[in-house]
Amino acid sequence: MRNTIFRRLPVSDVLARSDGSRHGLGQVYRRADLVVLGIGVMIGAGIFKLAGEQAGTMSGPGVLFSFVLAGLVCLLCAAAYAELSSVLPSAGSAYSFTYVAFGEVWAWIIGWSLLLEMVLAAAAVSRVWSIYLLQALQDLDVQVPANLADHFGVPTGLDLPSAVLLAGLVLIVAAAARLGIRVLWTLVLAKLAVIGLVILLGFPHVKPNNLTPFVAPAEPAAAQVTGADRTVLQVIFGGEQQVFGWYGIFVSAAVVAFAYIGFDVLATAAEETAEPRTDVARSMLTSVLIVTGLYIGVAFVMVGMVPFRRLAVDTPLSDAFDAVGNGFMRNVIDFGAVFGLATVVLVLLIGQARVGYAMARDGLLPRPMARLSARFHTPSVAALVLGAIAIGLGQFVPVLDLAPLLTIGALFCFVFVSAGVIVLRWTRPELERGFRVPWVPVLPLLAILGTGWLMLGLPVQKWIYFGIWTAVGLLVYLGYGRRHSRLNRLLAAEIEQRRSRAAHGRRHTHV
Ligand code: ALA
Repeated sequence: MRNTIFRRLPVSDVLARSDGSRHGLGQVYRRADLVVLGIGVMIGAGIFKLAGEQAGTMSGPGVLFSFVLAGLVCLLCAAAYAELSSVLPSAGSAYSFTYVAFGEVWAWIIGWSLLLEMVLAAAAVSRVWSIYLLQALQDLDVQVPANLADHFGVPTGLDLPSAVLLAGLVLIVAAAARLGIRVLWTLVLAKLAVIGLVILLGFPHVKPNNLTPFVAPAEPAAAQVTGADRTVLQVIFGGEQQVFGWYGIFVSAAVVAFAYIGFDVLATAAEETAEPRTDVARSMLTSVLIVTGLYIGVAFVMVGMVPFRRLAVDTPLSDAFDAVGNGFMRNVIDFGAVFGLATVVLVLLIGQARVGYAMARDGLLPRPMARLSARFHTPSVAALVLGAIAIGLGQFVPVLDLAPLLTIGALFCFVFVSAGVIVLRWTRPELERGFRVPWVPVLPLLAILGTGWLMLGLPVQKWIYFGIWTAVGLLVYLGYGRRHSRLNRLLAAEIEQRRSRAAHGRRHTHV
């Protein structure tokens, strides 16, 4: 192999790390834990906040269709992740798959995007958590002290609860994965119970009038959307500034793709799973299917209960129950969201620590980040460093506004993973696959097209931010990772060895 920035990680390298050796991550997950991890990370701000906002401002009852579209695309991508994590079970997830399939510089770009996705998502969801916490306290008539009120449950600026949540969960993740799982099981079961109640108790309030017309007639946008605030679709196809109609449904599909983000985090658990070749793939697909079903159920009752314009609020699901006179459910949802959003943040923090650890282990990030806690075999340093960045971002950057940016980052990784399935089937057909995507290359190609289509529904401004993030990442790679890469050192040593052997051989011939 030539020693360029396109050097590829050998498959044997990845497999050697998932052999359960005592030098690696501890093996803590069973299959059921992985499903809980998947549900824990997916059901969150996407359904508790974005779904209603999108229905109220962009897609009307058709938001249901947006969820179906985004769900289909994500299911195709999840199948690609499932195959690659069954071949290459690695804590690096998409980053490691790309390292093997496309080479180091691409892997770095994907790892950099994964970090963007997870760190920003943890920060953004912790802010939504804080908004719901405030709501839940108000439900209980608990008053926040006046001197804290400006920093409690606010969407931007300093926010105390979100920082405390992040700090607490970062410590749990840094200390012990097993402890994290126990907390997770309890919280996820509570969240599922709430989602079940929303569907069951919301259903009798569904009025056909609220659901028709299903595709709300397109109308001019209330505020003129200009320049970089326009979606790529708008820039390409031009046309009036409009909301609702089919255009609105497609744009909402891109926005609610956020709700599915996280299934990819499951792949980062592969090295900590006893049977990664089968368990990660199956639990990933199972959790995406369960979550898609639940989202469709919740979206249906939500838009069926109240006229869609009433959903354009911060806590749309609980407001919908309030509107039909069920104040009790409002409290249940507010508390459910507090539990539910905490699990999203917890799993994102678990995932980002693994990706950071994998990148540091390969020498692309500073080595100390690959240090494991001696007692628990968890990547404590990566958890603390990336956790601290999430806390900082959450406090000083308008992270809620940046949700589409992290969605672009996640979808970008989905494209590479789907392409990776095709490439590895072609270049390494002999590898043992615990799960195989059917109809390759058709389904992965559909995944790429679907993901690309969703990405076009996101604002130009966030694309520009993503471009800047990637460019900065490339500079970091060229300045640091390229030289410190473990693979670079191995290959350089190998080349040196070959050279000296050849020189030795020549000397012998001359003698
Ligand atoms: N899918 C996660 C959520 O909706 C990120 O909060």
